[in-house]
Amino acid sequence: MAHRILITGATGTVGGATLRALKADAEAGKVELLGAARSSEGADKLRDAGFAPVSFDFDDVSTLRPALKGVDSVFLLTGYSVDMLVQAKRLLDAAKAEGVRHIVHLGAFAAPDTPHAHFAWHQLIERATEAMGFDWTHLHPNFFMDTVWNGFARRPDRLVHFIGDRRASFVSSDDMAAVAAEALRNPQAHKGKSYPLAVEAVTFNELAAVLSEVTGRQVTYMPRPAAELFPVMQRQGAEANYAKSLAEGIAAIESGEFAEAGATFDNVETLIGRKPIDWRDFATTRLGELPAAG
Ligand SMILES: NC(=O)c1ccc[n+]([C@@H]2O[C@H](COP(=O)([O-])OP(=O)(O)OC[C@H]3O[C@@H](n4cnc5c(N)ncnc54)[C@H](OP(=O)(O)O)[C@@H]3O)[C@@H](O)[C@H]2O)c1
Repeated sequence: MAHRILITGATGTVGGATLRALKADAEAGKVELLGAARSSEGADKLRDAGFAPVSFDFDDVSTLRPALKGVDSVFLLTGYSVDMLVQAKRLLDAAKAEGVRHIVHLGAFAAPDTPHAHFAWHQLIERATEAMGFDWTHLHPNFFMDTVWNGFARRPDRLVHFIGDRRASFVSSDDMAAVAAEALRNPQAHKGKSYPLAVEAVTFNELAAVLSEVTGRQVTYMPRPAAELFPVMQRQGAEANYAKSLAEGIAAIESGEFAEAGATFDNVETLIGRKPIDWRDFATTRLGELPAAG
């Protein structure tokens, strides 16, 4: 029987990219691929893209065990919510009950003894995964290029961020997905491994220069104090506790206490057999997403 893989977060950025990264393996019959969808719209979106959806809602426990039946490996991705803790626990309990062997978790990059909440929550999920006896692979991406790009694409003359002139390291969803796909199709080679994922470090002034060059438009970095992030996120509808955790981490980067935020690693090329995507590559392939210059 083909190795059965469930991708959670399949209708989102990294989960969607991970499904696409495994499509050829599924078409070749090497893996059986299921994409989690919590709504009929999400299921239609997956079906239209050629994937098999399965009904799955972290907040409806009755959906979890049926979705996990016969599954060998799970890609565990939770959304931008403190509910990530209870959602991951529900998933792990259901996966244990259904005999899942391998969990590939999308966490976040920080020192193992980080005091910062959002990173600490991801680490608690990983400690629980290990203690429950699963084979595990932990992915620790730093800043997503996609998240910064999505903000930039709405207003492509400016970059707004809250870390001042500090350097931050980035990785693209396609590189995270390629590493996740490799771990999911090859559990024996990747069990018991943690992979930091951060391929290029830049200040936002340096990034603005790259984006100016690639887009042919003048892009200006407009730094805002980290103290303004929490109210901004609240106005955008973010959950208060989650927003507080992110704002706290960003303030630590701005003040220089979170020195590892600018670290990079050369592991991606070895893991996926191609050069990682840097900011110049990323912006070049996404140029078509920008509104016409006016
Ligand atoms: N952005 C960064 O720079 C960064 C850096 C490091 C780590 N991370 C981590 O990346 C993760 C988010 O990844 P992403 O950007 O790919 O997320 P995303 O695009 O926001 O996608 C979230 C996915 O989770 C699904 N989801 C949400 N609630 C659910 C529920 N109750 N049941 C089932 N599925 C549910 C969503 O489904 P719907 O389509 O139905 O909403 C969607 O598929 C977070 O854990 C975050 O900590 C982010």
